[in-house]
Amino acid sequence: MIERNDLCWCGSGKKYKKCHFFEDRNTSTAAPVRRSRPRKGLIKTPQEMDGMRAAGAFNGYLMDYIRPYIKAGVSTEYINKLIHQHTIDNGHIPACLGYHGFPKSLCTSINNVVCHGIPSEKEIIKDGDIINIDLTTIVDGFYGDSSETFMIGKVTPEAKHLVEVTAKALIKGIDAVKPGVPLVAIPEAIEPFVDSQGCSVVRQYTGHGIGKKFHENFTVYHHVDPDCEPIILEPGMTMTIEPMINLGGYEVTTDRVDGWTVRTKDGSLSAQFEHTILVTENGAEVLTLTPFQKSSGIRLCVNDVQFK
Ligand code: MF3
Ligand code: CO
Ligand code: CO
Repeated sequence: MIERNDLCWCGSGKKYKKCHFFEDRNTSTAAPVRRSRPRKGLIKTPQEMDGMRAAGAFNGYLMDYIRPYIKAGVSTEYINKLIHQHTIDNGHIPACLGYHGFPKSLCTSINNVVCHGIPSEKEIIKDGDIINIDLTTIVDGFYGDSSETFMIGKVTPEAKHLVEVTAKALIKGIDAVKPGVPLVAIPEAIEPFVDSQGCSVVRQYTGHGIGKKFHENFTVYHHVDPDCEPIILEPGMTMTIEPMINLGGYEVTTDRVDGWTVRTKDGSLSAQFEHTILVTENGAEVLTLTPFQKSSGIRLCVNDVQFK
């Protein structure tokens, strides 16, 4: 039960008694109160939407650029150098570098690493690996954030299954996005599917609102969680959907030494795909694609295969 001196549920930052208290009290109790009106700042202006489109398009170009380099024999630090240089050369900012002290310009997460793997000279990509490449760029103040998992050479059938389930999980999440539906529709589309495929949805890391900040406004769960906010999706909202899916259990641990690398607790493989999306009048516009991919209806790449 929310008390008068608590912060208001609407996210205004004001005390409840100074904000929605009287309004809520006057609401008929015959029907449940629908605490779902959008909070301030969730809806982007048309100018902001264009800013997000530009940031997403660059992130899409960057993924296109790096794809041919993700192969056996290459160090993850080499990938980092290429991403860093290409981003700077285009006049943009790698968002990961220095974010809460993260030391590199992208995350490279191999096999049992779930997310936030740190590129290293010593880490060489090898045949049979799966590796997630997570890129985030700041373009004129707006963030684009996307990731793909690559299968290197000949991977096990289990690894292939995991990567395909994860790609489909992202597509299902994107397909669930429609104006007027609650935010929880996204995990409701993802979690039962992933479970049915014998895999599990990571709970400790989530998608997020995104805009002029890396992580803003609200949490996009990929599993159905009681803490999912009762937000109704509306045109103009921007967020990431980025399911991390494990072949074993959903539990994860963070490396005690580097403070970043997140691994599956049971050592099983983990995969992830991520896009930044904009809620439109009809559904979702995937922002983190190149204009060409967008216009040809491509929505996701798994290695060199493009999915519509
Ligand atoms: N790109 C990640 C995300 O999808 C966040 C990485 S934060 C970093 O939200 F600091 F590890 F780079
Ligand atoms: Co993200
Ligand atoms: Co990301």
